[in-house]
Amino acid sequence: MNQDYIKPNNWSILEEGFDAERVEASESLFSLGNGAMGQRANFEEYYSGDTFQGSYIAGVYYPDKTKVGWWKNGYPEYFAKVLNAPNWIGINVFINGEALDLATCKEIKDFRRELNMKEGWYERSFTAVMPNELVVAVKVTRFLSLKRNELGVINYEVEVKNGDATVIFEPYLDSGITNEDANWEEKFWETLEVKTDGERGFITAKTLKTEFHATSFMQSRLFKNGRGQSVEPTEVNFDEKIIFRYSTDVKKGEKVALHKFGGYVTDMNHKRPDLLNAASTVLDTSVSAGFEKLLQEQKEAWASVWEMADISIEGDVKAQQGIRFNIFQLNQTYLGEDARLNIGPKGFTGEKYGGSTYWDTEAYCIPFYMATKDQHVARNLLTYRYNHLDKAIENAKKLGFSNGAALYPMVTMNGEESHNEWEITFEEIHRNGAMVVAIKRYVDYTGDFSYIPEKGLEVMIAIARFWQQRANYSTKKDKFVILGVTGPNEYENNVNNNWYTNYIAKWCIDYCMASLEKVEKEYTSDHKRILDKTGLSDTEIGGWKEISEKMYFPYSEEYKVFMQQDSFLDKEIIPVSELSASQRPINQKWSWDRILRSCYIKQADVLQGFYFFEDHFSKEDLEKHFDFYEPLTVHESSLSPCVHSIQAAALGRMEQAYKFYLRTSRLDLDDYNNEVKEGCHITSMAGTWMSIVEGFGGMRVVDGKLSFNPRIPDGWESYSFKLNFRNQILKINVAPQKTSFTLEGNETLEILVKGNPVKVEPSVPVTV
Ligand code: BGC
Repeated sequence: MNQDYIKPNNWSILEEGFDAERVEASESLFSLGNGAMGQRANFEEYYSGDTFQGSYIAGVYYPDKTKVGWWKNGYPEYFAKVLNAPNWIGINVFINGEALDLATCKEIKDFRRELNMKEGWYERSFTAVMPNELVVAVKVTRFLSLKRNELGVINYEVEVKNGDATVIFEPYLDSGITNEDANWEEKFWETLEVKTDGERGFITAKTLKTEFHATSFMQSRLFKNGRGQSVEPTEVNFDEKIIFRYSTDVKKGEKVALHKFGGYVTDMNHKRPDLLNAASTVLDTSVSAGFEKLLQEQKEAWASVWEMADISIEGDVKAQQGIRFNIFQLNQTYLGEDARLNIGPKGFTGEKYGGSTYWDTEAYCIPFYMATKDQHVARNLLTYRYNHLDKAIENAKKLGFSNGAALYPMVTMNGEESHNEWEITFEEIHRNGAMVVAIKRYVDYTGDFSYIPEKGLEVMIAIARFWQQRANYSTKKDKFVILGVTGPNEYENNVNNNWYTNYIAKWCIDYCMASLEKVEKEYTSDHKRILDKTGLSDTEIGGWKEISEKMYFPYSEEYKVFMQQDSFLDKEIIPVSELSASQRPINQKWSWDRILRSCYIKQADVLQGFYFFEDHFSKEDLEKHFDFYEPLTVHESSLSPCVHSIQAAALGRMEQAYKFYLRTSRLDLDDYNNEVKEGCHITSMAGTWMSIVEGFGGMRVVDGKLSFNPRIPDGWESYSFKLNFRNQILKINVAPQKTSFTLEGNETLEILVKGNPVKVEPSVPVTV
């Protein structure tokens, strides 16, 4: 474990004591978001130490021209990047003319950060001895409003402890920002207008190339001992920056505070000519409401998120803190109301992965959103890919595929591929399968088959076409093979017959054919429309059948397990337990070729297939494959521990399941992979939720019914979670000897518990 400074607490993330080395990691961990925008926990006041500045607006990106050593045909022209957006949180502070800068203070006492997840706010407090010997106590509270998602609020309080002083606050807006991650060191924003109106400041800027227009805005109010002051700020404007200066004299012990209201409005939600007005409207309503009322509103908004999404754990504070952190971050990142948006692997906590959409959404995030939000949220996530179908077809065409075959991008903002490492862009094609898995999961869970005739079937046909063209017949084997791929395990590239890829390809074809039959029978007019649109013929379907029947799966007679790929057994097989700690994580210690030659697996690969298609295999099969592959897995992708936790639980190995659970839930809090300063791992956080619900709770959908196989880790008194299942809410509480189910709904729900049918009547708790 790399770090251990976050204090255990049921509802808050706490840090105590200032350590400059931890600033960037804490900037990630204490990040804020409200689905529409987000920001790292950068200090408001100037900080000359190492910091990674980041504020982001959902959906606003820049196509950064691809930079590679050797250009390969088929590479995308650009990598879409979420942008560091104009800074509205900044407030520089001067005491008797000296800048408050935590990097230069003589002493910092009682430094404390709290991210209060229950109520949705972040607070930082400290007492600092400044170079001029003044002792200042500072407390800053900040939140991004869930209810008014264009607004953020800051309360910056200062008290000079050892004398009278002049305190100057300089709230500012700055659009002269850059990205940490930029291929050509270019600027991504062009400032269009810098405007002030009394105490209000507005900067309108547009992104280059994509031309998103965003107006950042601010207004502040000064308070002394809790009473509003009418201080006229002086104003300094630069090309890309507006600074207001509030100066006030305070006596020793007097508290002075600046309330700053700010945020963004963009042309994703307003007409361009209306942006200034829209920003003014946000300020009109929020400044008059004031900090306290807005904070109260925030608490209520988060209470209603938690009402449905919370998982409570009795008897294990670290486990509790972990899961709440994950649920909190997921809700900060994506709330599901806007089908244009999606869930970037780092959410609003960093720039890595470009804020773009990965297969993570379909493979890991859908179950969480499906069960903790209204059903239309998961449908929105599926629709996002339906809306990108034409682009996925274009993408496949660029690579030489035809006839409407689609390859969904590995990474995207707008449906176009933006990943540019050949072994992933061209070869990590298994991602196509996850699109179909997500559709199946949605239909099985919600019972809403209508998505398939309306949208899903077109996606499935295009994907089946891709697999048909990507597989080729091997005369030697008399089988269809898929050559030159990268499986989910990115520590092997350009391998032949990755079992997971071959398996999911066959399954996609089978599921598409089964869905076609059902649509033909039950949705005749949709069937006709889809055949007309796609030109699908019986001959083509005949070709699919042949591939499905003759797909090749590498298998080892010696170990009686499917092989990750054709030549896996040529590798030297040495379990991870024999690898010294000094060599790990191998992706930071070893050369790439050494990693590729080794038997070490980054994340679930064959086991990912056993996770998706668990019901195709026996428990003994799972056990054999788990025992073969897990010991070779280094779990250097955040997506890895959760799948293994679920499988260990299914095998009744609770100690191991618990270890993986802690690793997935505290991956960032404890920084297992030594990289949290780059941002948090948001998409795998949905995997943490699955580790409890599907792992410990054993939740599955079996023939349209919820089924449970509850288990509980040693030392836990109980845990509970809620599921929105087909518009009824089922609450599950698991304790060592009993599980209770309570239904908030109107119709009796028949569920399975350890395979036995149990009827749950509305509002009548049942204990098994
Ligand atoms: C994983 C991928 C994942 C990506 C984004 C990579 O490290 O190997 O499976 O899609 O991170 O989370």
